Amino acid sequence: MSDDIKFVLSLLLLSSLMLFVASDDTECLRTLQKSLVDPRGELESTWNFSGNGFNGFICSFTGVNCWNPSDSTVRSLHLVSLGLQGQFPEGLQGCSMIEDLNLSGNSFSGPIPSDISWRLPYLRYLDLSHNSFSGQIPTNITEMTKLEFLNLSNNDFSGPIPSNISLLVPQLSSLDLSYNSFSGPIPVSITDMAYLKLKTLNLRHNKLNGEIPWQFCSLAHSVSFSVAENLFSGLVPSCFENFTASIFAGNRRLCGAPLGNCRLRRVNDETSIGAAVGFVVGFVLAFYFPHWFVFSTSLHSYIFRI
Ligand SMILES: *[C@@H]1O[C@H](CO)[C@@H](O)[C@H](O)[C@H]1NC(C)=O
Ligand SMILES: *[C@@H]1O[C@H](CO)[C@@H](O)[C@H](O)[C@H]1NC(C)=O
Ligand SMILES: *[C@@H]1O[C@H](CO)[C@@H](O)[C@H](O)[C@H]1NC(C)=O
Ligand SMILES: *[C@@H]1O[C@H](CO)[C@@H](O)[C@H](O)[C@H]1NC(C)=O
Ligand SMILES: *[C@@H]1O[C@H](CO)[C@@H](O)[C@H](O)[C@H]1NC(C)=O
Ligand SMILES: *[C@@H]1O[C@H](CO)[C@@H](O)[C@H](O)[C@H]1NC(C)=O
Repeated sequence: MSDDIKFVLSLLLLSSLMLFVASDDTECLRTLQKSLVDPRGELESTWNFSGNGFNGFICSFTGVNCWNPSDSTVRSLHLVSLGLQGQFPEGLQGCSMIEDLNLSGNSFSGPIPSDISWRLPYLRYLDLSHNSFSGQIPTNITEMTKLEFLNLSNNDFSGPIPSNISLLVPQLSSLDLSYNSFSGPIPVSITDMAYLKLKTLNLRHNKLNGEIPWQFCSLAHSVSFSVAENLFSGLVPSCFENFTASIFAGNRRLCGAPLGNCRLRRVNDETSIGAAVGFVVGFVLAFYFPHWFVFSTSLHSYIFRI
């Protein structure tokens, strides 16, 4: 075979592959738009399905990016700060090649669907931050094997962090769960992520409790993290003694470097308050009922010395 023929054949093969891959995501976006509440009419003006004269017309819709502007396969959907409301949008399984979904800064509410890995199997970036989503993280999220970036910060999520999130989302490089109401302990297995791709772990401002597991030390040098403003208790693992205190701050029962020394601080608090109260009570009693003290032989000499 001459090189020319090989070249033409591979071109043909390539284009047939591209045809095979291309899909029409018009129905996906139509279903999605119907499922959301758009009080400011932000999408109405550009998401106009009646003018569908050419292939790829959906690619010019607000927030829509396609793999190729001349076909209708959605690559990313950034519906950011548009005042949108409603539940997690419907119909996304129709956008079969979507890899980036950003719904940050709206007023979406309700849970993450429990079949999210089926709806969005190829998703790499999921940003739901600054909404009113609630409920638990579905264990189904652990089957999103392409997920690299997950930002759930500033929502009303609660419940535990799924214990095996680390085993099943090996690609995750950034996990931001800050400013929610997650509770329970840090799953020790999350520290397995230190050996994978994790670079950012933000657990700030939740209701997580228990001790900081010593296995957290494995995150110390590769991961930027925060556990501030939770309900953690006990000692900060000693590997963190030279870290900045702010990543542990706001946990009232957590102590040890870089936070204050545990035992001394607790003893100091109690004894100094106790001493102050004792002094005031003693002084008042001695002032109004001096005879109690005068007849008390053990105190007698003490008072006269003063
Ligand atoms: C949608 O497109 C059709 C056809 O181009 C046009 O007649 C109609 O006014 C458009 N609707 C909006 C809301 O822009
Ligand atoms: C989502 O959009 C916001 C605002 O444009 C941006 O700051 C953020 O980085 C985006 N998230 C992702 C995952 O691209
Ligand atoms: C996730 O949801 C899909 C579709 O409903 C289901 O097939 C799969 O078993 C679920 N996985 C988990 C771990 O829940
Ligand atoms: C997550 O989203 C919040 C709010 O939009 C933002 O401040 C934060 O930087 C994001 N986290 C990461 C790791 O990008
Ligand atoms: C992950 O944890 C969930 C809930 O605890 C469990 O249903 C699931 O089987 C676990 N998956 C693996 C692979 O351990
Ligand atoms: C913290 O710094 C001190 C003084 O530089 C050093 O001796 C100690 O080994 C450091 N601790 C850790 C855990 O790196």
